Amino acid sequence: MQETRTRSDIHTLEAVALGATQQAALASYPWVGRHDKDAADAAATEAMRQVLADAPGRGTVVIGEGEKDEAPMLFNGETVGNGDGPDFDIAVDPLEGTSFCAKSLPGAMATIAFAEPGTLWSPGPGFYMDKIVVGPGAKGVIDLDAPPESTLDSVAKALGKKVSEMRVVVMDKPRHTDLIARLLAAGAAVHTPAEGDVGGSLEALLPTGDADLLLGIGGTPEGVMTAAAVRGLGGDMLGRLAPQRQEEADAIRAAGMDLDRIYTCDELVGGDALFAATGVTSGSLLGRPRESEGALLAESLLVSRGQVRRIAHTTFGSMPRK
Ligand code: FBP
Repeated sequence: MQETRTRSDIHTLEAVALGATQQAALASYPWVGRHDKDAADAAATEAMRQVLADAPGRGTVVIGEGEKDEAPMLFNGETVGNGDGPDFDIAVDPLEGTSFCAKSLPGAMATIAFAEPGTLWSPGPGFYMDKIVVGPGAKGVIDLDAPPESTLDSVAKALGKKVSEMRVVVMDKPRHTDLIARLLAAGAAVHTPAEGDVGGSLEALLPTGDADLLLGIGGTPEGVMTAAAVRGLGGDMLGRLAPQRQEEADAIRAAGMDLDRIYTCDELVGGDALFAATGVTSGSLLGRPRESEGALLAESLLVSRGQVRRIAHTTFGSMPRK
């Protein structure tokens, strides 16, 4: 966000975004390893909602906790904020990687994106989309219709790598069995986390990330969230609705949406945006919240104003209990 906002508005929204992910991460932390992903998600959502309720300005939740999860708050269309300050649209995923949190596995994080009003794509009844995400070095060379072998070739060429040096993230889902086999047969290394395609995309986008490319089908909310980070980091992304059940496909068609349409990153997020994430369980991108001598430490990433910043928050107090 930089063209139409004042610097002070941007600072305000950055602070709200970081406060929202930090509080969501701290609230879900007591649920790490409790094998109750719904309770962890609810705790994160409630905490994020409290921060957003008091935020300066007026926000509209465009990408909410989602109908897929039947979330009771931070739903699509909900308005937040105290009305005194900038208008903004938001995409929220208070706990990305709910199972990672529930099982105490690496990679759970609280995430949020802020955008100019009217600039976030709404997936309607579409829960799933096919995605390609690359960092700035491979901008402009991706094609969602290309076979994975050609995508590997063109991204490798753009990055000045051999295909055998390429590292691809594909979520470990039955729908990706063939994709993973083809990427391996072509010579790439394939990282297959059980979930978390926002984190997987960040691995491809961040200069310090451990991947060159993310491929495969994941959630539409996560797609819009990712697009906000892609815009901020100057990478590239393409997405296309990929319904996983007949009812989902029927609902998309009934809503007048085109199942063949490929969305560019700029169509998913049509203006400047900021993205923030705070670690819930330790992973390669972010560490977990920690308690030390009466202070709480949380690790966040902020993508804003064309930069990525790593922020260690310290607040006084003790870890929330469940
Ligand atoms: P949750 O945090 O809501 O559980 O989502 C995790 C996730 O893996 C996303 O990163 C991904 O986009 C989506 O779920 C894929 O959905 P599914 O697990 O149904 O294939």
